Amino acid sequence: PTALAGRHFLKELDFTAEELLGLVELAAELKAAKKAGTETRRLSGKNIALIFEKTSTRTRCAFEVAAADQGASTTYLDPSGSQIGHKESVRDTARVLGRMYDGIEYRGDSQLKVEELAAYAGVPVYNGLTDDWHPTQMLADVLTMTEHTAKPVREIAFAYLGDARFNMGNSYLVTGALLGMDVRIVAPKTYWPAQDVVDRARALAVDSGARITLTESLEEGVRGADFVATDVWVSMGEPKEVWDERISALAPYAVTMEVLRATGNADVKFLHCLPAFHDLGTKVGQEIFETHGLESLEVTDEVFESAHSVVFDEAENRLHTIKAVLVATLA
Ligand code: CP
Ligand code: NVA
Repeated sequence: PTALAGRHFLKELDFTAEELLGLVELAAELKAAKKAGTETRRLSGKNIALIFEKTSTRTRCAFEVAAADQGASTTYLDPSGSQIGHKESVRDTARVLGRMYDGIEYRGDSQLKVEELAAYAGVPVYNGLTDDWHPTQMLADVLTMTEHTAKPVREIAFAYLGDARFNMGNSYLVTGALLGMDVRIVAPKTYWPAQDVVDRARALAVDSGARITLTESLEEGVRGADFVATDVWVSMGEPKEVWDERISALAPYAVTMEVLRATGNADVKFLHCLPAFHDLGTKVGQEIFETHGLESLEVTDEVFESAHSVVFDEAENRLHTIKAVLVATLA
């Protein structure tokens, strides 16, 4: 068994830098083995439950393919396909699934719920996204960053632009702080992470040597960045009504070619956890673009489709990193 055998994966704060980087390293090994056709199955006979109270493409598919590659089987429970939270408490669900499965993934709104699931399941529980954190996404982003720069992780500078009060903003800030990176949160002050998250990050930075910047200034925020990242301005579970306010507050922080140029780094790379509103490719996007007379939201199509963009490497890396979490905790 590995050092992480039996552990939950609920949020970045539960792990040391060494543990997180160990998972990224294992993911890189698993990725190389899959590409070389030499992957060995370390999870044969294991069963994993996947609870999704919110929709997903990448996270669900990554868990299912990772499990299949490793010889494990999965059960997908969609938002209407289980009793959890409606007819049965989280606690009871945890104890039932824990008797049948070797691991449980949970995606939903509340971090408290995934923590409660973990407290009662008796088997490893994985956070596939809550309103507070998106920890499996962070492993994919760090792997992607290491693939696209020769710098050691501690020397990487990245800027996150947009709504930083939610899962992605929180996770970037804390992950950067843990790993000793140069992390910049670039947004209007009212969109910065909550004070307790900022305090945790600053405390971690004292030990890790991380450089933490929260700024409203786009120029200051992106100067010298190796990576520029963003996320949707309205997250799953939020009401449609907030679009107006978000667009007026965050439009100046959209990732454009001009923003990438302002980094002063010709080699700067663009990250986005996806899905992204960069063109007229979605129904929701079309509606919003029409109402507001826009052609893109958090990132322009030009940036998204440019050589700077590494978003599909990032998406692929969801598979390899989630596989690393499963192997490390269950093998
Ligand atoms: N990035 C991400 O979590 O994508 P899904 O919502 O498609 O899982
Ligand atoms: N902040 C987004 C991330 C999606 C992967 C959301 O919560 O909808």
